[in-house]
Amino acid sequence: MRTFVFYSEKAKTTGKIKDDLMQSGRMDIVIHSIIATFFLSHKLRKDVEMHLVFDGPPNPPQHLIFRFNEETPISKKDVAGLISKMLYKSEKGKIKEIFPGCFIEKKHFEAVISELKEKNKKIFLLDLDGEKMENLKEDEINNSVFILGDDDGIPKSKLKTIKHMIDKKISIGPEMYFSSQTIIILNNFLDKYLNNV
Ligand SMILES: C[S@@+](CC[C@H](N)C(=O)[O-])C[C@H]1O[C@@H](n2cnc3c(N)ncnc32)[C@H](O)[C@@H]1O
Repeated sequence: MRTFVFYSEKAKTTGKIKDDLMQSGRMDIVIHSIIATFFLSHKLRKDVEMHLVFDGPPNPPQHLIFRFNEETPISKKDVAGLISKMLYKSEKGKIKEIFPGCFIEKKHFEAVISELKEKNKKIFLLDLDGEKMENLKEDEINNSVFILGDDDGIPKSKLKTIKHMIDKKISIGPEMYFSSQTIIILNNFLDKYLNNV
């Protein structure tokens, strides 16, 4: 199981997602990243878990968890619709499964990372200046959490709150890639590694 955590300081925390997704706190980047995480040609990845933390207005924080399965009503054409319905149904003090494999709760970034750390997962921050992903060891790859941000990256103030939990910074290459490109490159690397290609 591989795990991605996507943080956005500005993704809107209301179900009212605008037609122009860029005006909803760059929900377009969120959607591209979800598609990059789960979608293959004619199939969905079932070995991936994705956590998204939205800290934009009006009701932050919102923590969405996706573990897609056969019953998840997900279409590449309407990821925004799925997110919108989940945000409308979020309630303080409880975690709710809105659709099969799609959960939402009000939980902040630090607590999300802390819970993953408690499950003995290796926590890797995706960072241009990190160690090469090619140097990851087998036990690190099999039990790993990869954290990334949106177009603004992860703010310094947020990084401070999770710094003590990070095992390593990992770089996927010499350029600064889009969030969705970062996920695609990493998914491809992990696929090749795990299949001995
Ligand atoms: C568009 S980039 C963010 C750019 C932002 N201005 C910054 O300086 O962080 C989105 C995310 O992709 C990840 N990323 C992009 N290029 C990367 C690279 N070469 N290695 C590792 N992670 C990368 C980072 O986690 C980053 O938060």
